[in-house]
Amino acid sequence: MERNEFIKSLGLGIALVCTGSCMTGCGSKGDDPTPSPGGGGGGGGGSAGTKVNVDLGSQLLTVGAFLASGGVLFIRTATGNAASSFVATQASCPHQGGALNWVQASNVIQCSLHSSKYTTTGSIVAQPNDGGTTSALKVYALAVSGTTLTATIS
Ligand code: FES
Repeated sequence: MERNEFIKSLGLGIALVCTGSCMTGCGSKGDDPTPSPGGGGGGGGGSAGTKVNVDLGSQLLTVGAFLASGGVLFIRTATGNAASSFVATQASCPHQGGALNWVQASNVIQCSLHSSKYTTTGSIVAQPNDGGTTSALKVYALAVSGTTLTATIS
């Protein structure tokens, strides 16, 4: 009798530990990795209206250069520091959040996780290679002031 109760309580304890681990895991996955505006690193999109800046005096200096900052993937597509010389999209893949990179040689934005591909206007070129389905990328408005490139998340 006592042994049975002990085993039951042990089972319950293990179940609680597993549940706690699952809840913790789910919670962290669901957290919005939105970096602060102007901050470094990639990640998902930020809140609508958030502005993300890049210093063109030291970043995106050459055509084909790209960087992820504040949830925005910035790509230089032409010379000069006009807004039209750049493209800004969400930095994480709509499929499952993989990091997006610019592939200059083939002029596509490609996901590092399942290799989906997109144009600079956000259209899908290739679906994920895991059999899943992605959606078009968000493309953000850009403005240049001095040497500051600003994307406004929408
Ligand atoms: S996460 Fe990008 S294709 Fe799957």
